[in-house]
Amino acid sequence: MSNPDLAQLADFAQRADTTTKPLELAIVLPTFNERGNLASLVERLDDALAGISWEAIFVDDNSPDGTSDEARKISQHDRRVRVLHRIGRRGLASAAIEGMMATAAPVVAVMDADHQHDPALLPGMLKAVASGEYDVAVASRFAEGASTEQWGRPDRVRASNIANAIARKVTGVELSDPMSGYFMLRAESLRAAAPNLSGVGFKILLDILATSDQTMRIKEFPLNFAARAEGESKLDRTVVFEFLVGLYDKWLGRIIPTRFALFGTIGAVGVVVHMAILSAFLTLAGEGLRGNVVTNFELGQTIAALVAMTFNFFLNNALTYADKRLTGAAALMRGWIKFGVTCSVGLLANVGVAAVLVRFGFHEYPAALAGIVIGSVWNFALSSKFVWGRYGT
Ligand code: GDD
Ligand code: MN
Repeated sequence: MSNPDLAQLADFAQRADTTTKPLELAIVLPTFNERGNLASLVERLDDALAGISWEAIFVDDNSPDGTSDEARKISQHDRRVRVLHRIGRRGLASAAIEGMMATAAPVVAVMDADHQHDPALLPGMLKAVASGEYDVAVASRFAEGASTEQWGRPDRVRASNIANAIARKVTGVELSDPMSGYFMLRAESLRAAAPNLSGVGFKILLDILATSDQTMRIKEFPLNFAARAEGESKLDRTVVFEFLVGLYDKWLGRIIPTRFALFGTIGAVGVVVHMAILSAFLTLAGEGLRGNVVTNFELGQTIAALVAMTFNFFLNNALTYADKRLTGAAALMRGWIKFGVTCSVGLLANVGVAAVLVRFGFHEYPAALAGIVIGSVWNFALSSKFVWGRYGT
C-alpha cells in the first residue's frame, strides 16, 4: 500500500467516525417565524458540538415567513438537520414534545432558535446527563452567575420571577428557573413522561418535572440570556395567559378539558354581555318603540344575542382556539356565520332538553341549567369541528 492510499484511508476512517458514530444528542428547536436565524444557528451548533454526534430538529408551525423552507434548504446539504413541519397547530410545548419524540438520540435538548440560548453550554449539559450523574440539565437565567442584562427586558424578567415563584410553590420543585426553555434530559425519561404531559402552553420543563414519578436529579447551568437575534418574541403578549391555562390544564384538565372550560367561561361572559346590552337597549329605547310590530324586548333581545354571539366568536378565536386561529376577513366572516349556525342548533338543543325536563316534573331552574350545559357541549363539539376544525394556514 502506497502512502497516498494510507492517507486516503485515514481520511475515510475519520469521516466514517463522525457519520457512523452512534447519534448522541438531538437538539429540538421549535420555530415560528425564525427564518433569518436558522443558518447561523446551525453554524453555532456545529462549532459548539465538535466531536459529538448530533442532530438538530426544527419543529415549525407552518410559519408564514417560510422558516420550514429555509430549514429544508439547510437540511439538503446537512443531514444532521431535520424538519418537522406541522400544519393547523401552534404551541411551543407541543412542538418541543413532538420534536423530542421524533429522534432516536438517547439524549434530547430543547432550545430557542433565536440565539437567546448559548449553544456553548450544550457539551457540559450533555456530560452531566449522558454520564447518568444527573437526570436533567437546565440552563438557568436566574442561577448564580447567570445574567439577563443583555436581554434588555426588565418587564419580562419580573414576569418570569413571578411565574417561577408560583411554579416553585405549586410543584415543590426547587429550581432557579423552572420556566426555562433550554434544558436537556435522557430521551427515555421524556418518553416515560410523554403520555401524561399536557402539551398546552409553553412551560414544558415544569410539566416534565411535575409529571415524572421519580424525583429528578437536576443540574443548573448559569446562562447569559442574550437578546433575540432577528424577529420578535411570540410569548410577549400571551405569556401570562398561557401560564394560567397551563396550570389549569395540569390540575383540572382531566376533569373538565381545558378547551371546554375556556369555551364555557367565555360563554358565561357572553351571557353577561348579552344582559348588559339588553338592559342598555331597554333603558335607551324608553317608550319610543312601544306599539310597533316588533316590541322593544324582541328587538333588544335580537341585538343583544347577535352582539354576544359575535363577542363569543372573537374571544374563542383569540383564546380557546389560539392554536387554530382564523385570520383574514374572508375566513373570519365564514367562521362567524358558521358559529352563528352552530349556536342556533345549540339553542334548540338547550330549549328542547329543558322543556322535556320540565314536563317530567323538574323544577324550572335546574332544567334551565341542564339545557344550558347540554347546549354548550353541543356548541363546543360542533364549533370545534366545523368552525375551527380544519387544517388551515
Ligand atoms: N413551533 C413553534 N410553535 N415554535 C414556537 C411557538 C409556536 O407556537 N411559539 C414560539 N416558538 C419558538 C420561537 O420561534 C423560538 O424559537 C422559541 O420558541 C421561543 O419563543 P420566543 O418567542 O423567542 O420566546 P421568548 O424569548 O419571549 O420567551 C423566553 O422565555 C420563556 C419563559 O419566560 C424563551 O426562552 C422561552 O423558551 C421561555 O419558556
Ligand atoms: Mn426568544
